[in-house]
Amino acid sequence: MTYDDAIKALSSDALKFVKDDYVIGLGSGRAATALVKSLAKLIKLKGYNVRGVPTSLQIKLIAEKGRIPLVEADQVEYIDVVFDGADQIDSQKYVIKGGGGALLRENILFSLAKKVVVMADKTKFVKNFTRTVPVEIHPLARNSVTNSIKKLGGDAEIRSLDRGYPFFTENGNIVLDCDFGTIKNPKALTQKIKQTAGVLESGIFLRKPDIIYKAKENGKFDII
Ligand code: A5P
Repeated sequence: MTYDDAIKALSSDALKFVKDDYVIGLGSGRAATALVKSLAKLIKLKGYNVRGVPTSLQIKLIAEKGRIPLVEADQVEYIDVVFDGADQIDSQKYVIKGGGGALLRENILFSLAKKVVVMADKTKFVKNFTRTVPVEIHPLARNSVTNSIKKLGGDAEIRSLDRGYPFFTENGNIVLDCDFGTIKNPKALTQKIKQTAGVLESGIFLRKPDIIYKAKENGKFDII
């Protein structure tokens, strides 16, 4: 049994939060992919009339394969439930997102959601954040934001692809992966990051999840 087995099992369990006619936010990454595959089976089985809102082309392709009808975030007033993964979760239940670069759209969906369900394996749960914080910025603000991040005690690096080309988000922006060491006050830090001109989104989300699934290495999971 592995974390992947647990993610598969919990993504079936999480479908209990789906009802007919729901608008469902589809996060990005491996956990969201497992969920979307289970969701596609549920819709087929029950004949549900749901609509999915994708956060990236990655998840859009998975949803299309599963024949899940899709709409964009600007075509709905709210989202009944969002399912998404996370890069790290601290003891206050804040999450870091954006490892795959979909943070801007993911946070828009979190803000529209009546319920947010986050799914992650045990290794991502920490007392205080320790990993880098993805920050989506306009390319022209790369130097000014890097300096602002430095003033906040961080070290910013432009995310790049394997062969050295800069990584561009689906919104045409770049991502700074910012190392702040151990983060004791994620809320204050996020508020300061978001006040910086040129910053489009911070990977620390201030909307906490309503339900958190923790995948364990024995193939089982806990609900927090
Ligand atoms: C996408 O930008 C991220 O926020 C993902 O949701 C996050 O990286 C978790 O992905 P995995 O489920 O693949 O670990």
